[in-house]
Amino acid sequence: MTLAATMLAGLAVVPALAQFTQQRSGFAPGQTDPFDSILARRIVMTTLGRQNDQVHDIIDGPGEAEEAAARLRLDNIGVFLLGIPEMFPEGSYVYSKELEEEDPSRVTTALPQLWENWDDFYTRSLVAAETAYRAGRAASWEELVRLTEDLEGQCESCHNEYRQNPEPIKFPPEPAQ
Ligand code: HEC
Repeated sequence: MTLAATMLAGLAVVPALAQFTQQRSGFAPGQTDPFDSILARRIVMTTLGRQNDQVHDIIDGPGEAEEAAARLRLDNIGVFLLGIPEMFPEGSYVYSKELEEEDPSRVTTALPQLWENWDDFYTRSLVAAETAYRAGRAASWEELVRLTEDLEGQCESCHNEYRQNPEPIKFPPEPAQ
């Protein structure tokens, strides 16, 4: 498996062929293949999901004993969210049933409304980034837990607006099979 495919392996579908475009000659300097934008944001979002699950395991488990680990992950989540809108350039809505069947990692699961409501999408990313940042630096454990819950609500409400088949974030997380 390629590195990108391995990073996406937490997905329901394991895209065996997922990889970034290797052949750069078709693209001007600084220009990104839309497939690469899709793969980049899907890997980042998958990582967000994993880090968020880990924060939640800490909240449900030993709790305050692992406070520093939770804060570090919340900080990472905030950084990822700040960069998220830049991974959704114009022209990176690529979807068809045929392409999805051929290689599920090459299609986007975002909805076209995302680009129609760009300001809303952009604002939601930044609001969630700020919530994660504040959670990572909360003055108390209780505030960290409360802000993490706010953050999860912001993840889910953006997914409800702009993602095909959004799944709710499940708590407690289901045990690994
Ligand atoms: C501003 C909107 C927005 C916010 C905030 C947001 N997401 Fe997403 N998320 C999306 C969109 C849009 C997609 C689909 C991306 C694609 O397929 O191109 C997505 C996809 C995902 C995926 C699926 C990845 C894949 O390819 O299967 C996971 C997991 C995920 N997000 C987790 C999170 C978590 C956890 C948070 C909060 C910490 C979060 N997201 C915050 C918009 C958002």
